[in-house]
Order: sequence, then structure tokens, then C-alpha cells
Amino acid sequence: MQDKIKSLSAEIDQFKAAKLDELEALRIKYLSKKGEITALFTDFRHVPNEQKREIGQLLNVLRDKAQDKINELKDALESKQVSVAGVDLTRTPDLIPLGTRHPLSIVKNEIIDIFSRIGFTIEEGPEVEDDWHVFEALNFAPEHPARDMQDTFFIEQNPDVLLRTHTSSVQSRVMKAQKPPIRVLCPGRVYRNEAISYRAHCFFHQVEGLYIDKDVSFVDLKQVLLYFAKEMFGEHTEIRLRPSYFPFTEPSAEMDISCNLCGGKGCPFCKHTGWVEILGCGMVDPNVLKACGIDSNEYTGYAFGMGVERITNLKFQVKDLRLFSENDVRFLQQFQAAY
Ligand code: PHE
Repeated sequence: MQDKIKSLSAEIDQFKAAKLDELEALRIKYLSKKGEITALFTDFRHVPNEQKREIGQLLNVLRDKAQDKINELKDALESKQVSVAGVDLTRTPDLIPLGTRHPLSIVKNEIIDIFSRIGFTIEEGPEVEDDWHVFEALNFAPEHPARDMQDTFFIEQNPDVLLRTHTSSVQSRVMKAQKPPIRVLCPGRVYRNEAISYRAHCFFHQVEGLYIDKDVSFVDLKQVLLYFAKEMFGEHTEIRLRPSYFPFTEPSAEMDISCNLCGGKGCPFCKHTGWVEILGCGMVDPNVLKACGIDSNEYTGYAFGMGVERITNLKFQVKDLRLFSENDVRFLQQFQAAY
């Protein structure tokens, strides 16, 4: 009996199983009802009484050893199975990478937010436009250089189908479709046939504002723009209006803000003038009101338009316009904390 126990113990040391059913076969061979170790327990009654104590202990140790070995192999096989399937259920999960908003969207949304607080609503129009909405209704003379092939992208050589060069085209649409009072903000993408460089691109983004009502004056325009500049760039910001020219506004002006980098003291960014230009504006020309079916004796209005890229450069000091359309995640991720 002792020899048999010894040889079974040696066999247990050699236990190996590549699969769970091989392991089950081992269990059946040694530990099941008809197994070899179980058989020894049956034979135990023939052991002489004086040896029962010693052999009994040996048998118990043998049975436990077999059971422990089988359990150990089973654990090993099960954890191996998990990794074979390529899924480790015990691994801590990867964090889901969060996207970021595009800086132009961040700034556009901020502009919209500022103007919606004083009652402006959003209007959008098509990027592919006709000559009437982009130029004619807006008082561009037939020979105006902006209509030239060099500025405007025409579609299939048809002079009446073009990509809008400014969001003022939405002005014409809104004035034709709605009756005053009108107070809208028109954000959108515009196209101009320019060579791409760090400071110019063939497409960019604008936000146009339009307000038409009775007795609207230049003072209203100036006050709204001052409110915008302070909300966008900080309470200390000052504005300055310089006379300018746009076919669709009269009088027209360009607005500068005190340089938000040097606080107006003068730095390379503002070319040592202390001021940076941010938008064009003016009182809607009566010819435009007439072309769009609004009585210019009863109503007046103002309009302004700004480049979203320009404002974004001022806020975040992006030196190269091309970065906005390259979608390099290393650039975009820098705006993660912005909003
Ligand atoms: N549309 C003009 C531009 O593209 C900006 C502008 C809008 C000027 C409204 C005056 C009034 O430059």
C-alpha cells in the first residue's frame, strides 16, 4: 500500500493538462468514484490495525495533494484562456480620449453668445450664391473689382453662380424675407480667390450683424460695438472708429480696439500703434434697403461684419491662419481648457 501511495504521489507531481477536458480526465482517473486514489480508500479496510493510523494519514495527504494540484492547473488554464481570447477582464480601462472644440467654433459661439444677450437672433444662408444677393442688392456697381474673377470663385464659368465672398449676402436674404424690426446675426464661411499664406486663405469665417428699425442711428451702432468689444476682450478695452468705404453702408467705418496684448502701449503685434482693426461697419445704404423692399424713408439700420479668424488670433495669438484648417490634433488639443 505504501509503495502504491508513493508511486501515485510521483504521478501527481507529473500532472499536466493543456486543456480543461484533459484536466477533467485526470480528476476522473484519480479522484472519481472509480479513481485510483478512491480505490486505495476502499482497500484501506484490509490494512492491519496497527498501520491504520499511519497509512490513513498518508492517504489523506495523497488525496489533498491530487486535489490541490488539479485546482492549481485549473486556475492556470482559466487565466490563460482569458488572454488567449485577447481580452483581459482584469485590466484597468483606457480613458476615452475627449475631443476638443475647434478654436474658430469657440470664438464664433462666444460672439453669438454676446450678441444674443442683447436680442440678436441667428440667420444662415447658402454658401453657393447668386450675383444679386452677394453684389447687386448690396449696391456694388457693375464694374466693382470685388466681382472680378480674381476675388470671386465662380462655379462652372457661370457669372451668376458663385461662392459668397462675404456673409452680407445673408443680409439681402433676411431683408427680402422679413419686415423690420430686424435684428440678426449671420455667421458663416466665405470664399475669396486669394493665394494661401500664413495671413490669407481662400476660405474663412465671418459674423455679420444687421439691425433695422425706426430711428436707428450711428450712436446705436457705436454703443453696441463698444459693448461687444468689452465683453469679448475685457472691460478695459477701448474702441476707435475710422472712416472707411463699403458699397452697402453709408457712412462706413472700420473699428479698431486698443491692442489687447500691450494694453495700447504699442508692441510688434499692433505695429506699435496701440490699435488693431477688428471689423467693418456702417449705416445700411438706402439703396440697399430699397433693393430689398424696405422703405428707406421709414427705416434706417446699421450693419457690421467681422472675421472670426481675426478675432481668434487676437484672443489666442495664433500666428498662422493655415493652422485653422489643417486639423492637426496637437494644435487643436491646446484649446481643451478653453471651454
Ligand atoms: N462685408 C464686409 C467685408 O466682408 C464687412 C462689413 C459688413 C462691412 C457689414 C460693413 C457692414 O469686409
